[in-house]
Amino acid sequence: MAQRKKPNILITGTPGTGKTVTASGLEAATQLRHINIGDLVKEKNLHDGWDDELDCYIINEDLVCDELEDLMEEGGNIVDYHGCDFFPERWFDRVVVLQTDNEVLYDRLHGRGYTGAKLTNNIECEIFQVLLEEAKKSYREDIVVALTSNAIVDMNTNLATLADWIRSWNPTS
Ligand SMILES: Nc1ncnc2c1ncn2[C@@H]1O[C@H](COP(=O)(O)OP(=O)(O)OP(=O)(O)O)[C@@H](O)[C@H]1O
Ligand SMILES: [Mg+2]
Repeated sequence: MAQRKKPNILITGTPGTGKTVTASGLEAATQLRHINIGDLVKEKNLHDGWDDELDCYIINEDLVCDELEDLMEEGGNIVDYHGCDFFPERWFDRVVVLQTDNEVLYDRLHGRGYTGAKLTNNIECEIFQVLLEEAKKSYREDIVVALTSNAIVDMNTNLATLADWIRSWNPTS
């Protein structure tokens, strides 16, 4: 099987931790392709309808994986999603879990208009480090990295760290 020439990175974390701003910044800095799974699901109808209770599309994981297989094999992708356990493990060379302090995350989500169960569910998801646990269960621990995303300075540090890593990535390593 042909090896990819550029790495694939997964950026995951609780909603509001900064996946999309980080992935967009990284796309601009490295020319890798940013794939926002939420947008893709909407655009290409890769879902089984709308979940009124959770207030989001019911993602069809098989359709998403089929849609992305060729691109992922080619390499050079930054995948952005608040879940990570249904992608094939072989797709990723690095799995980044963004983390935000509760008070900071609360203000961000509240500012977005989240209230009630939607707000508390997401805060609890962050408190219990659900995405970090999911990432560690789904991928080799040595490719999983947790990065703090509280302030702009953190984002800039994260972008520099990830861009460096991409530049020095070697397909044979
Ligand atoms: N490190 C940071 N410092 C300051 N503001 C940030 C940081 N990270 C994210 N933000 C802000 O928080 C908000 C949420 O960021 P973003 O949309 O990237 O989150 P997300 O993880 O993609 O959320 P979702 O899972 O809902 O798509 C945005 O207004 C963004 O500008
Ligand atoms: Mg996003």
